[in-house]
Amino acid sequence: MNILISGVAGFIGMHMVKAYEGHTIVGVDNLNPYYDLKLKEKRLEVIKTQPDFTFIKADVCDEASMENIFNSMSFDVVIHLAAQAGVRYSKKYPLEVFQSNTQGFMVIATLAQRFHVKTMVYASSSSVYGHLSEGPFQETMKVDQPSSVYALSKRVNELCAQTLSHQGMTKFIGCRFFSVIGPYGRPDMAYFKFSHLASLNQPITIYGDGSMKRDFTSVFDVCAMIQRLVEQSPSFEPHTIVNLGATHPVSVAHLIEQLESFLQMKMTKQYEEASSIEVPLTHADVSYCTSLIGEITLTPFEESLASFITWFKEDKPYAYLDPFID
Ligand SMILES: NC(=O)c1ccc[n+]([C@@H]2O[C@H](COP(=O)([O-])OP(=O)(O)OC[C@H]3O[C@@H](n4cnc5c(N)ncnc54)[C@H](O)[C@@H]3O)[C@@H](O)[C@H]2O)c1
Repeated sequence: MNILISGVAGFIGMHMVKAYEGHTIVGVDNLNPYYDLKLKEKRLEVIKTQPDFTFIKADVCDEASMENIFNSMSFDVVIHLAAQAGVRYSKKYPLEVFQSNTQGFMVIATLAQRFHVKTMVYASSSSVYGHLSEGPFQETMKVDQPSSVYALSKRVNELCAQTLSHQGMTKFIGCRFFSVIGPYGRPDMAYFKFSHLASLNQPITIYGDGSMKRDFTSVFDVCAMIQRLVEQSPSFEPHTIVNLGATHPVSVAHLIEQLESFLQMKMTKQYEEASSIEVPLTHADVSYCTSLIGEITLTPFEESLASFITWFKEDKPYAYLDPFID
């Protein structure tokens, strides 16, 4: 297949490129400096050696550049992962996040339709579920109260896909990712940030009392599920939204205990009040996903965290990356 993947210098994007080794891939990323660019460059070093992979530095909001890319090759599949992530960042820079995430989506989605791409997968987020304190979350639940501008931008993407799906032959698949974890992870996420700061003997900040729960999901499971969704997509409705989560939420306190045990150190903890944008729980129900792609073996949290830690100990990112500042 010919595949266009956006956000390839990002965490999930890099793993998605690796998962599709053997196919012809064009990867796009604007290499924005939201977190230390050295990590994005490192991920690119990993995937640039892959045969039939071409990297193009470009912004998905720039329609003319994207149109050139769609003109250069006929794509079977588009996987749109480029977005400004970070719930807390979206509180500080709401306009930037909203504009980038919604315009980027519309540019890619409308071009996918114009160029008759069969399947477009796009990244949504568990954050669209807002402040639910009881799980598991099902795709049929009402999601009209996003708690952050980031969540809002992802919900807008889903509504745009719903609208466009009636107007062309491209099948849209919106993937609601639940806290993805793995090697080369994202430095702004708690598992990475805590490991990074602790390795520099600096205190970690916990928002709330540590009881907040997240359904940490292996990046390898996420990529495998996306591949199976793409395979099955000819039989899908014009627009499908699915949860991609591990189904077993764990508390921030448990995450810290596990990190302390893997890293063999005690972390110095500071507590700050949780902001209204932090949701208390994420918890995926994946029965709809399995009805589409068949049974899936999901990696337990401890194993997903261990695969991150193995990379972290080997690569020692704390020695070359600036710690992420909220
Ligand atoms: N990692 C998670 O737990 C998680 C959870 C829910 C949703 N998501 C979504 O999944 C996608 C991938 O997330 P990730 O964790 O790999 O994040 P990431 O920040 O590591 O990767 C995103 C990449 O997109 C690029 N990018 C951002 N805006 C761009 C633009 N306008 N044009 C071109 N490139 C641009 C960035 O430079 C970055 O390399 C994002 O859409 C994110 O919102 C991730």
